[in-house]
Amino acid sequence: MSPFRLTRTLPEDATGAALRADVRAGLTGSPRTLPPKWFYDARGSELFEEITALPEYYPTRAEREILLARAGDIAAVSGARTLVELGSGSSEKTRHLIAALGGLHTYVPVDVSESALAGAGRALAAERPGLEVHALVADFTAELALPDTPGPRLVAFLGGTIGNLLPTERAAFLASVRALLAPGDALLLGTDLVKDEKTLVRAYDDAAGVTAAFNKNVLAVLDRELGADFDPDAFDHVALWDAEHEWIEMRLRSRTAQSVKIPALELVVDFAEGEELRTEVSAKFRQEGVRAELAAAGLDLARWWTDEEGRFALSLSVAR
Ligand code: AVJ
Repeated sequence: MSPFRLTRTLPEDATGAALRADVRAGLTGSPRTLPPKWFYDARGSELFEEITALPEYYPTRAEREILLARAGDIAAVSGARTLVELGSGSSEKTRHLIAALGGLHTYVPVDVSESALAGAGRALAAERPGLEVHALVADFTAELALPDTPGPRLVAFLGGTIGNLLPTERAAFLASVRALLAPGDALLLGTDLVKDEKTLVRAYDDAAGVTAAFNKNVLAVLDRELGADFDPDAFDHVALWDAEHEWIEMRLRSRTAQSVKIPALELVVDFAEGEELRTEVSAKFRQEGVRAELAAAGLDLARWWTDEEGRFALSLSVAR
């Protein structure tokens, strides 16, 4: 039996307090916004899993293709003894990387979902005897305190999730990742790439309507957690390409003029007919932009790998 430990760094009501603060700030501002992290309750996580299997949603398959092809290179370049995975979820895509990291001593999956961590962590610890698994229940966009484990460290942030942060949030996030690393330690980063508008919009507005259901699910989260009376059917799913910022935006467009009550915030939000609420930004990248953002945080781009079709990139950068 391999050692498995789970540390909870989130105070009990941290999630509730953060949700209330985010919803109040986002729904009283103009334009109205909600941070994408609130999509992922049990139903939202299930819908996201369904999205990753859609014919239109290429990023998950493209990233898996790169990971399978390059796991050996990642292991050789990083020489990692500790792998920290931010937003690890079920740790599914990391299995192959872990297998390739021959000298790995400790795996530290970090996620806000304790249930995902406990299941995945225990399975991994059992699969690879001797590998220490130290799961962290934490919000990786906030301060992280890592267990004291042997270097070199490799931090992995996969799935293109960095694209869900706004540029200023990205800079702060990369600086906080750099602060976890010693010189020579590495970051493995997944980034979706700029491509033709049609392919991008389809990936966020699939024919089966799964992404629309995922988008509207955030309203069900607010209804359940804050006692709100959003009717998800009173909003339309919108996905558009912002060519200036080079990001996809998901929005919910109010079908009618309506008033929504949010009792937990003692707040009433009025929507005009056609008024839009931004629920997600998903930035798409180019190599030079990624290199510059990493460099600004003290990370030097060392490797850049894409899938065969050039849709998605994995970069390996090294702390200065
Ligand atoms: C994989 C979490 C980054 O932005 O592509 C999928 C989430 N949103 N469809 C992305 C998502 C709409 C996603 N991340």
